[in-house]
Amino acid sequence: MKLTLKVWRQANATASGKMVTYPIDEVSPDMSFLEMMDVLNEQLIQKGEDPVAFDHDCREGICGMCSMFINGEAHGPDRLVTTCQLHMRKFKDGDTITIEPFRAKAFPVIKDLAVDRSAFDRIQQAGGFVSINTSGNTQDANAIPIDKHDADKAFDAATCIGCGACVATCKNASAMLFVSAKVSQYALLPQGKVEATDRVMNMVTQMDEEGFGNCTNTGACEVECPKGISLENIARMNREYLTASVKG
Ligand code: SF4
Ligand code: FES
Repeated sequence: MKLTLKVWRQANATASGKMVTYPIDEVSPDMSFLEMMDVLNEQLIQKGEDPVAFDHDCREGICGMCSMFINGEAHGPDRLVTTCQLHMRKFKDGDTITIEPFRAKAFPVIKDLAVDRSAFDRIQQAGGFVSINTSGNTQDANAIPIDKHDADKAFDAATCIGCGACVATCKNASAMLFVSAKVSQYALLPQGKVEATDRVMNMVTQMDEEGFGNCTNTGACEVECPKGISLENIARMNREYLTASVKG
């Protein structure tokens, strides 16, 4: 396949960026999108030019690192896949593809397509955990019966990989889908109930402090989420927040 890539190039966080056009050939339909980017970078290095910076790690749809806005969609045109799991057979020979970073005030660009998503880490640190007493008297979690329906919903919420596509897609740059998945995975389980009040209050406070926008129920986040995280989680987080607010 021969393609024309229009890629966002930005030298650092404070530099102004621009779209740069690169023709590319020798792209196999069986390559992943990131492998195609590797080919581009090999060509740039051979010409003595700066390769395009982009985040990636597992390349298996697990880590949430790959974050590209491809032809106006987070993780590109396929559904329920990350950029690393997107394959070039989704495009046609001769296509022009635009590639931008995930854009949001809370995700400043570091370089080219790499953005700083440490705001998500700080939200997690504010409450996305359960504290376990490891004194030796800890109850075996497997000995606590959990309704299958709740266990399945908790597992679904726990599949969020923290990629940030929901933020990049949302017109308000809201992080509600991400935060609600992290709140929900504990809210549905008995282990999460002990710290539930502090968790939702602290995570929502941190989310607001990081500069993410509010949810206005557009639903674009659910459509673009590579893990199919449901909007139902946002409704659950809002209920958790209300209950926590009343408790004070
Ligand atoms: S909710 Fe979906 S889109 Fe948002 S961070 Fe989690 S996996 Fe990514
Ligand atoms: S590189 Fe890990 S999810 Fe894409």
